[in-house]
Amino acid sequence: MSGAEDVDGAVRRWRVLSETAVLLDGFHALKHALRFGATVPAVLTSGKDAALALADELAPDVRDRIAELALEVPAETLRGLVPRAHPTGVAALAVRPDREAQLALLAQERRPAPAVVLDNPRNLGNAGAVIRLAAGFGATGVVTTGSLDPWHPTVVRGAAGLHYATAVERLQVDELPAGPLYALDPEGKDIRSVTLPDDALLAFGSERSGLSAELRERADELIALPMRPQVSSYNLATSVGMTLFHWSTASGRPAAM
Ligand SMILES: C[S@@+](CC[C@H](N)C(=O)[O-])C[C@H]1O[C@@H](n2cnc3c(N)ncnc32)[C@H](O)[C@@H]1O
Repeated sequence: MSGAEDVDGAVRRWRVLSETAVLLDGFHALKHALRFGATVPAVLTSGKDAALALADELAPDVRDRIAELALEVPAETLRGLVPRAHPTGVAALAVRPDREAQLALLAQERRPAPAVVLDNPRNLGNAGAVIRLAAGFGATGVVTTGSLDPWHPTVVRGAAGLHYATAVERLQVDELPAGPLYALDPEGKDIRSVTLPDDALLAFGSERSGLSAELRERADELIALPMRPQVSSYNLATSVGMTLFHWSTASGRPAAM
């Protein structure tokens, strides 16, 4: 089979797979997805040597997998398949994790680490940043309520493919897993006086309107991040970062490197 036929076949396969698969846009998203066990049926690159040089430098642990999976295609072909081609010239498609398995992880009786709840988030970049934080802190997962799709390609790009390192799902407030729910609100009790348990649900309000009435009703406690007077609020992802850091100082998790 000629190189051109290989490319044509790969493009056809990509088009079919992309109807259901998750787009991993860029080298870093691919690297993280492979590290955290994603099934990756297609990897295209506009420069295989450059991609492997990046792998040698930044991800020798998955270099051989990338070498095996990646097919070089012309840059123009890649641009035709991926709307906003990543500067690393790498794109891949991964299988989305099974929803039931993800929900079982979120609902497990003794969650080993908190799950983050984003109540009707509006900003795709914020959602991606939160998933990246959750992955870094070893949180059990990130649940969103409302209409934003936490698997939207912009969210996956913002999270650098770390959706595969934590359970990411969308639920309604009345479907949230059991467990003590701490809702973050500037009017709450100072977080510094609270020890967050490992099985906590940590809920954060929408960028526009804060916590919904429904979420407030489900909350066991409202807690506040320290903030000087006259500042109205912190950014959503920053608030999640501070809260997970607070949990980690008491729990000692994730384990020190
Ligand atoms: C950008 S803020 C929302 C601001 C919104 N205009 C409001 O009325 O609440 C997004 C979320 O971050 C969390 N947050 C921000 N600053 C906080 C603080 N000082 N203490 C606790 N939570 C905070 C809250 O969960 C809040 O709903």
